[in-house]
Amino acid sequence: MKDASPQPVYLKDYTPPAYLVDTVHLTFRLAPEKTRVLSRIAFRPNPAATTRDFFLHGEDLRLVSARIDGQAITPEITPEGLRADAPDAPFLFEAEVEIDPAANTALEGLYLSNGMFCTQCEAEGFRKITYYPDRPDVMAVFTVRIEGDQPVMLSNGNPVAQGEGWAEWHDPWPKPGYLFALVAGDLVAQSDRFTTRSGRAVDLNIWVRPGDEDKCAFGMEALKKSMRWDEEVYGREYDLDLFNIVAVDDFNMGAMENKGLNIFNSSCVLSTPETATDANFERIEAIIAHEYFHNWTGNRITCRDWFQLCLKEGLTVYRDSQFTADMRSAPVKRISDVIALRARQFREDAGPLAHPVRPESFIEINNFYTATVYEKGAELIGMLKRLVGDDAYARALDLYFTRHDGQACTIEDWLKVFEDATGRDLAQFKRWYQEAGTPRLRVSDDFKNGTYTLHFEQETPPTPGQDTKQPRVIPIAVGLLGPNGDEVQPTVVLEMTEARQSFAFDGLASRPIPSILRDFSAPVILERATDNAERAFLFAHDTDPFNRWEAGRALARETLLAMIRDGAAPDPAYLDAAHAMVRDEALDPAFRALALALPSEDELAQALFATGTPPDPQAIWEAREALDITRAEAMRDTLADLYTAHQVTAPYRPDPEQTGARALSNAALGLITRRDGGARALAQYDGADNMTQQLAALACLMRAGKGAEVTQAFYRQWRHDRLVLDKWFGLQIMQAAPAEAAETAARLTEHPDFTLRNPNRFRAVMGALAGFPAGFHHASGRGYRLMAEMLIRLDPLNPQTTARMCSAFETWPRFDAERQALILGEIERILATPGLSRDTTEMLSRIRDA
Ligand code: TRP
Ligand code: ZN
Repeated sequence: MKDASPQPVYLKDYTPPAYLVDTVHLTFRLAPEKTRVLSRIAFRPNPAATTRDFFLHGEDLRLVSARIDGQAITPEITPEGLRADAPDAPFLFEAEVEIDPAANTALEGLYLSNGMFCTQCEAEGFRKITYYPDRPDVMAVFTVRIEGDQPVMLSNGNPVAQGEGWAEWHDPWPKPGYLFALVAGDLVAQSDRFTTRSGRAVDLNIWVRPGDEDKCAFGMEALKKSMRWDEEVYGREYDLDLFNIVAVDDFNMGAMENKGLNIFNSSCVLSTPETATDANFERIEAIIAHEYFHNWTGNRITCRDWFQLCLKEGLTVYRDSQFTADMRSAPVKRISDVIALRARQFREDAGPLAHPVRPESFIEINNFYTATVYEKGAELIGMLKRLVGDDAYARALDLYFTRHDGQACTIEDWLKVFEDATGRDLAQFKRWYQEAGTPRLRVSDDFKNGTYTLHFEQETPPTPGQDTKQPRVIPIAVGLLGPNGDEVQPTVVLEMTEARQSFAFDGLASRPIPSILRDFSAPVILERATDNAERAFLFAHDTDPFNRWEAGRALARETLLAMIRDGAAPDPAYLDAAHAMVRDEALDPAFRALALALPSEDELAQALFATGTPPDPQAIWEAREALDITRAEAMRDTLADLYTAHQVTAPYRPDPEQTGARALSNAALGLITRRDGGARALAQYDGADNMTQQLAALACLMRAGKGAEVTQAFYRQWRHDRLVLDKWFGLQIMQAAPAEAAETAARLTEHPDFTLRNPNRFRAVMGALAGFPAGFHHASGRGYRLMAEMLIRLDPLNPQTTARMCSAFETWPRFDAERQALILGEIERILATPGLSRDTTEMLSRIRDA
């Protein structure tokens, strides 16, 4: 039992490494089952160290030989690594190990994907390749020689030399082991070139399997735009002669920022109009940018330890959001980000897995690549920028890059840069990094003698391990509207620092309507006693696009909650407001599509739970269905025109204009199908020349119960394309009736094209089920049972992907006693599985013990 009772690691226990590394030479003799890795590592004692313990991480390695300064040694070997006596002076460590990439189904370390060798080392995968101080504060210059019969053999940095059966690479930039990468296989490149603003020519390649060459063009454009943008906005230039991207089918996450050799889940880089949706294109552009931006925020400046993960991830997500806002529509990006934040991060923050943006302990770091670290981490950067202002933000970032280039840093270093650049004390702001939970911001107001006062009260509920919370600094962007809809007070940022605080606006002729938390200026839950008439007013008049959307969202949410809780009929105030909004041709179609989407089932469940009502997933699903049918009826005279007016007839382009138009026409199609039973959807399906329209039509047909034939036809058309087939798997579950979703998922796990070896395929099925509350939480418990069975089967193969999927169970405390008992029963069953991985054990114990 190698994973028996693993111990947590604590932030407070950080100690500097005993030895530092100057240079690393690696030689790989590639063979699927017996790859040899030879290492030559130049160590020297770390002057800042407190011990001289020479310990190297290493897991699942067969040590062939080891030497120190040429002398053979017999080190002590444990399941975690190697320990030896080492000199108190610089020395050369050499080792030869054997590893088995073919047996590596965990997709961490060196593994095979479709016969291609590839690596994934973040966070602690390098130790599965060779013995090494596998921690991000040990940075070294790597030289790599690859020997094998693969036509293409790549590693980090620049190519040095190559010959028949070998290639050598050198990366001049010191880096931690987690940024190491190697790829070898039968690959072809789409190539291009970029000239940096100082005139350096950079070769760009996107490497793919033969046959996928035509799927790289969009990704390449996204890469060049990202490079230009980082120069223009952050003053950051690329620093090597070569930038390689490789597409890999079997990958645990989205993509990885290895220095000079980014590795991508093929779903996050490959695209053609026929196979990728508009949403896929947007995501590809954002992820290419994200990984590229890591070159400065992550690679040149990295993390001291994994507790500081948000230092690189929060900042890089923030940067890629800014990029998307610049490339596309800023309001649409902001609204989409907030929808995702609430769906994933607020959910996490309100449940048993809640943790601070900078956690203080972990058992398995892979379990902390979370919405809190990434998305809330990005929100903290946005708040900081709003608090100090744009100029100060730019100065602070310049200081960050000059002061810390080449270093492994902490959140303290990050905040100090802002303090030094602005003279501001950020001690209170730091609480955002240290305390988990989403603050509730309660607002009331009064109006006397021309003075309007807003009274705020903040409170953060307890989270696991943190019973009491301190007041945080909250930037609250506020504007005021007059009764005729004119803005009487343009946006100001109020800085709340106390538990309760009031802000007055005087000189007003009449009581204004407040627009609070504009642009979602802080990741909090706003609570304000108001009514649907005021929401409708803001939905019609607010000058802040985010709050305008937010008012419509709240109106829809309140309407649905009243239907669910009291069996009320849909509020005509909502129907009228929504109808007026979709017809307003002055509004961006993408905005209208967003405003037409109903709050998700999960968002409604969150809202019910927050007010003390256990959500009934079936009732929530039925209310959304009922409201959709009512909307289709109420808007019937508009929908056909709306659909036709926004049909794109020009050749397909994944640009913001066409994307917005298709989003709106497809939203209209959904409502039209409620009344015509699928005639229009079938016409769209038959005429579609792109995946966005084909898939939207297919979804409508399935939902209308008319999908059987097209589902078969879609399979026949696309069975050769893994990424499209993933959509086919997922959609059948998402569009099933709640009582049939688990059965549909179970049936699909028996399909010949289903495999546990490919994370995308596993997520397509099980992620779709988890993302469909009425199906997953069906009272029969079938969804829970299937999830448990599949997690038990996947865990021995791929602990990382298994552990991530466990969050499907994180909402158990919301539910009624019957569902709670069913979920906890399944959790216990999984936990009782012999040999369960550390990853999955940690996740399920945290979920259960909340
Ligand atoms: N650092 C990567 C990113 O955010 C994500 C990442 C972490 C990752 N661990 C991984 C990707 C494991 C794939 C597999 O860009
Ligand atoms: Zn990242």
